[in-house]
Parts: sequence; C-alpha cells; structure tokens
Amino acid sequence: MELLSVNEDGQMLAKTFYGMEEVLAEELRKLGAKEVKRLNRAVSFVGDLGFLYKANFCLRTALSISVPLFDFRFYNEDKYYKKVKSFDWTTLIDIDQTFIVDVVADEASFSNTHFAALLTKDAIVDCFREKTGKRPNVGKENPDIKIFVYVKEKEAIVYLDSSGSPLFKRGYKTEAFKAPINEVMAAGLIKLSGWHGRGNLLDPMCGSGTILCEAAMLSCNIPAGINRKEYGFMNWNNFDKELWETIRDAAIDRIQEMPCKIFGFDIDSDAIRQAKQNLANLHLEDKVEVIEMDFLESDANDESYFIICNPPYNKRIVADIESLYGEIGNTLKNYYQGSSAWFISPETSVLKNIGLKPDKKIDLFQGKIPCKFVGYSMYAGSKKRKHN
Ligand SMILES: C[S@@+](CC[C@H](N)C(=O)[O-])C[C@H]1O[C@@H](n2cnc3c(N)ncnc32)[C@H](O)[C@@H]1O
Repeated sequence: MELLSVNEDGQMLAKTFYGMEEVLAEELRKLGAKEVKRLNRAVSFVGDLGFLYKANFCLRTALSISVPLFDFRFYNEDKYYKKVKSFDWTTLIDIDQTFIVDVVADEASFSNTHFAALLTKDAIVDCFREKTGKRPNVGKENPDIKIFVYVKEKEAIVYLDSSGSPLFKRGYKTEAFKAPINEVMAAGLIKLSGWHGRGNLLDPMCGSGTILCEAAMLSCNIPAGINRKEYGFMNWNNFDKELWETIRDAAIDRIQEMPCKIFGFDIDSDAIRQAKQNLANLHLEDKVEVIEMDFLESDANDESYFIICNPPYNKRIVADIESLYGEIGNTLKNYYQGSSAWFISPETSVLKNIGLKPDKKIDLFQGKIPCKFVGYSMYAGSKKRKHN
C-alpha cells in the first residue's frame, strides 16, 4: 500500500531524544522497517502505509513519525515562500481542516524560526487561495494536519507529521506526580539498560509509575499506543480504516502474560496512589506490585533485582541531594548485593556520591537538560538488615 502519492519510495522519519537513536533504530529493524539509518535525534527508514500505522502504534522510543513531502534549496525568503507555495497543498489538506506548521532551522537559514513558520503558513494559505478562493484555518490546539519543516544550510525538507500529538502521550498517564519522567524517555532507558522484559525489575522511587508502566508494557508485549485513541494519519484523506484496524488487532493479538515480576516503591502515599491508577489504566494493577516504602530502609532479602530509577534531582525538592545519593549508594552496597542498578539524573556531579564504580555511563538529554544514565553492579555478599 503506497504511503502517499508524493512519497513513492516510502521514506519516513522517526524523531527521538538525543542518545536514543540506536535503540529506536533497533526497534524499527525488529518491527520490519527497511533501510534504517541513524541520524541526530532521529532515524530514517522505509515502509508502506501499513508500516506507518504499525510504527505509530508499536514504537516505544519514537516521539513522532513523519513523511517527507518535498525538499528544495533556497537563497532568500522569497524563494523559500515560492517553493512552499508551488506544492499543491489542496491534495493534502481539506478546506475545513485545521493545520499547524513547525519549523526547525539553523541560524544561517533563518534567524527566527517563528518567522519561518509564518512564512510557510502564508505560502500554504496562498496556494489554497489561488487554487480555490478559500483557505483552511490554523489550529493551535489539536490541529488536524501537522506540517514540519527541517532547514539546514538553506536546504529545506518539508514533512507531514503522521502522529499528531507526540507519541509519549500514550493515554495511560492520567496521574502525574512531581517531576514525572517522559514515557518515551522511560522506555528508552529500559532498552538502554539492557533489560529485555525478563528478571525482577524494581523502580525504588517510582513516583507516578512511568518506568513501571513502560517496563510492564514491554514485558507483556503491549503496544505503546494501546490506550491512545487518535493519530494524525487518521485525518489524512488516504486514511484506510480497515488496514489500521487489521494492523492494530494483529499487534494486540501478540500481547502475552508477564514473564517476570515488576515492583515499585515510593515514600509518598500520593505517588503510590497515582502509580496504581496509571497501572490500572493499562489493566496492569494486578501484575505490578507498588508499595509505600522508604527505599533507604528496604532490603532485597536474597532476591536479585534489576533496578531502574530516576531519583529526586532538584535541590528545590530535596534540600540535601548530596546525602540522599550517598544513602542510595549505601543501601545498594549493603542490601542489594547481586542486583544491578541504573540511575538517570541531571545532577551529574552528585551521582558520584552513590560511591559505586559505574559499569557504564550514557549521555542523554531530557528536552534541553543534559543528564547521565549510569549503571552499577553490586556483587553478591551476605549483609542483611537487622529487623526487630
Ligand atoms: C523524580 S521522582 C520519580 C518520578 C517517576 N519516575 C515518575 O515518572 O513519576 C522521584 C520520586 O522519589 C521519591 N522518593 C524520594 N525519596 C525516597 C525514598 N527515600 N524512598 C522511596 N521513594 C523516595 C519521591 O517521592 C518521588 O516520587
């Protein structure tokens, strides 16, 4: 099934966070994408219309999936406007649909990306006016059609976004505690850590449970978009409902029983309530155990765990972040021997207070904030807490 008449070779682009490109490329290969290529914060690949639906529904580490429409070189703003206007936008947007334009450009091409977006919008509207005498409206909230333009060194690639709202909006997180981690980031951390959905997983400071939800979905093979009702491609005039339903149902048929145990702790009762609600939204409340508990007073009790966690990182929330990270390290060394642990934090210097030798350090960005994702192994021993 052809992707779009203007995109005969089936090229697509999946965007992701910096540092997640390889895990996204791997996900795409496993899902059946062709010609997978790693780029900066994105991966390009080839597929057909059915694959576009599958990628949107199943990928855990993609933020959006777009289809390139056309590309061109330009020397000045006037040339840019004319090139955008010369595309027949009436074939993509219906007059009663709303649209929005987002532009990412380097300084050499446009000093003001907001202006570049307005210029693109004007060119689309003027194309409509010339061809039909009417124009579609811009929709800032929930637009039907999203256009994305990437500009570098006076070369522009114009894309049609097939996802609509970003794919981290999975639809299960109705509750969000202080500083929740992004769903795509959580899924990417799980994949980067090397946990493949087998073996006990623990998030000992789980907040609203994002890492728990993503880990449980991965281990049960639940598609990332299981709770999501809308995608941008549903507003396209080539939307094939029957094909979409076939793709969706086939992915749902591959859901399996959880082959491992997943646990969460948090010291805050509100966080526990929210994590339980988010898990319930995925019908996973009976599969994942969430316990109100101070991690610093916990003990693995001879079990070994795979720990993935984003501990509190903001000095405004936790006054003594240095000593908290030190205590996390002591708890791991003394009571989680035989386990391994991964922590993400923008407090890169404070992470050293954990006091364990890292096996691996990975540089990431959460939006514009640089972070480190650090893995540790605690070797087996016999120390246990003395309980009264
Ligand atoms: C950055 S938030 C985690 C956010 C979470 N990943 C989410 O997506 O919602 C850090 C969490 O650590 C919890 N916390 C702080 N100290 C703790 C401790 N000693 N034991 C367990 N949880 C703790 C806080 O209550 C907070 O929910």
